[in-house]
Amino acid sequence: MPPAHWSPYIEWAKLHSPGAFNLATSGVKHVSLAELGATIDDVELSGTSLYGYGPLLERVAAKVGVSPAHVVLAAGTSMANHLAMAALLDPGDEVLVERPTYEPIIGTAAYLGARVVRFDRRPGDGFRIDVDAVRRALTPRTKLIVIANLHNPSSALTDRATLQALGRAAEHVGARVLVDEVYLDAVFDQTPPSCVHLGPVFVATSSLTKVYGLSGLRCGWIACEPRLAHDVWRLNDLFGNIPAHPAERLSVIAMDRLPRLLARAQALLAANRTLLDRFLASRRDLDGTPPRFGTTACPALRLGEVDRLCAILRERYDTTVVPGRFFELPGHIRIGLGGETTPLAEGLRRLGAALDDLAREG
Ligand SMILES: Cc1ncc(COP(=O)(O)O)c(C=O)c1O
Repeated sequence: MPPAHWSPYIEWAKLHSPGAFNLATSGVKHVSLAELGATIDDVELSGTSLYGYGPLLERVAAKVGVSPAHVVLAAGTSMANHLAMAALLDPGDEVLVERPTYEPIIGTAAYLGARVVRFDRRPGDGFRIDVDAVRRALTPRTKLIVIANLHNPSSALTDRATLQALGRAAEHVGARVLVDEVYLDAVFDQTPPSCVHLGPVFVATSSLTKVYGLSGLRCGWIACEPRLAHDVWRLNDLFGNIPAHPAERLSVIAMDRLPRLLARAQALLAANRTLLDRFLASRRDLDGTPPRFGTTACPALRLGEVDRLCAILRERYDTTVVPGRFFELPGHIRIGLGGETTPLAEGLRRLGAALDDLAREG
């Protein structure tokens, strides 16, 4: 019997996604302590973390472009999403979540007792948000609309006008819009400001996990209007209370080195995107426009079953991609392009070989 509340996707990602050629990732390759330029002397065990460790709070606020009163620090975007939803949703409330979505979003909303209602982002439409479809799904009981920008799994970017339209639709029924921006900085030179600048109806979450390769720091945050931020800090006293101070110290160092870490990610993704674009252009059995931004792509299979492809890929080629069923896209696969370039090239070659094998099986 599975537990009452769980994420099949996260369990799969932890137990089954690793392979010699892992194309199932969504972040940029991890930064080591040495690459960060930090040493054990930078770490201290205890500090003054009450409602945020001051030096870190200031840096996160400066990065987002708001005052510290708008920021709540959290253990990764995961906990930021959980806290934001826990603060905004009561049992029986409706939450409108994009489909496909990052699965823990719906798991968390259900765990909180909310009624999860969906609206579709269609592959044939570039995974664009159809604001009319969102409007149609809103009811007086809707308390929250949740999207990711960039979108996971497609990496589609939602533009300012669409966000503003979502904000107006939410305001109309007294709801808010939670935007998970964990991939947003992977737009690089054209990265738009956080949605929190579009008005108090917006709540943004993010972290240093994906684009900066710093998952281990668990440096995440919520940016929102100060009254809500105050309430989320108090709610957090019931969850984690005080974070691990060594991670806060290292996060301050990382925050001071973000431009260098961003340049690292940009160079890596530019090289890898060229490989992925070439690969997708060479495969008539995969359907999907290569994403312009971000760290993942999710083409559809034109022939055969995704589960069979994934089995061949693992058994014969020691390579993994994410089966689309974890994103409610059973005919798709998600390919991550944030890993090192040489293994990525080999992983794509193996994916091509597995697709050829699948075609031979008919
Ligand atoms: C949309 C989205 N939000 C949040 C997370 C988790 O982020 P973090 O590691 O910062 O908790 C992921 C990880 O895949 C994600 O895809």
